[in-house]
Amino acid sequence: MNTENTIKKIGTVAVLGAGNMGNQITESLVRIAGYKVNIMDISMELANKGIEAIDSRLEKHFVAKGKMSTDDKKAVMGKIKAFASVEEVAKGADYVIEAVIENLALKKDIFKKLDEVTRPDVILTSNTSMLNITEMASATRKPEKVAGMHFFNPVAMMKLVEVVKGARTAPETIEVVKAMSIKLGKEPVVCQDFSYGFLANRAYRGLSNEAIQMVWERVASPQDIDKALKLGYNLPMGPLELSDMTGSWGLRASSEEDAIRELGSEKGKLHPLIRMMVRAGYPGGVGKKGMYAFYEEIFSKL
Ligand SMILES: NC(=O)c1ccc[n+]([C@@H]2O[C@H](COP(=O)([O-])OP(=O)(O)OC[C@H]3O[C@@H](n4cnc5c(N)ncnc54)[C@H](O)[C@@H]3O)[C@@H](O)[C@H]2O)c1
Repeated sequence: MNTENTIKKIGTVAVLGAGNMGNQITESLVRIAGYKVNIMDISMELANKGIEAIDSRLEKHFVAKGKMSTDDKKAVMGKIKAFASVEEVAKGADYVIEAVIENLALKKDIFKKLDEVTRPDVILTSNTSMLNITEMASATRKPEKVAGMHFFNPVAMMKLVEVVKGARTAPETIEVVKAMSIKLGKEPVVCQDFSYGFLANRAYRGLSNEAIQMVWERVASPQDIDKALKLGYNLPMGPLELSDMTGSWGLRASSEEDAIRELGSEKGKLHPLIRMMVRAGYPGGVGKKGMYAFYEEIFSKL
């Protein structure tokens, strides 16, 4: 079947994980592309929490600004159904996007279950930021139907989707994932399933590591390093404040072994400043302190 026909046949998309990314991706699927979405998390409470987050974003950014009527919002929200099991959410789905926490063993387990409950023709994708697509695909009997579909945060604003080709992903699958991305208003870029962080995150890691090294050498404060990068390269945010916001310091500290295995010891090794910050309780992320606070409260006084 050609790409156009495959895309036309998709009516219901299953999204696994109703957290930050899962609920934002769901919003794009229902609001922009008009799909029905079955969304799941480990409990109905968490699945519904994800749905409530979509509702309040639509209210704030669309209804309150006169860009959407209350009735239209109701119609959009009516397309989403909550579930708390992989079997239920994926049964009858025509396309799947997995967006659970970044844990390869868990994702493999989920792909195995997805393989058991979806039709053989259904494409299974993962929104993983850096884990191996080929390995997830190996948990299924249809590795040719498995690909990476890596959205960026915040989903409504970021145009990029990295479409990741696993070792056994079929070219037709890649075409459908690209077409799906375009339907959601995104610009897909295809890459191979090599290394850690695909394209954008892998390159950004170099920039971020150098910024950290400059804090370590006390070349300037984190604020001034970010300011120089923002003004010098027209970036919307500096790499240090971005990691403070997303909490990626904590994620990097917990995945050092994987990073070394995938990128080699020179690129994958955790910078001692990150280790120091995370150990001191400054991993960044929602409601948590990160590099800016650590510098001001501790590092600048050492
Ligand atoms: N946050 C980002 O900026 C970003 C950007 C691109 C990609 N990603 C990737 O997207 C994925 C999700 O990240 P996130 O930021 O939304 O995380 P999150 O913690 O906000 O959400 C993850 C959700 O997965 C749920 N979950 C855990 N185990 C589950 C299971 N067995 N079944 C179903 N749901 C389960 C959690 O309860 C949580 O609601 C990760 O792979 C991450 O690397 C994140």
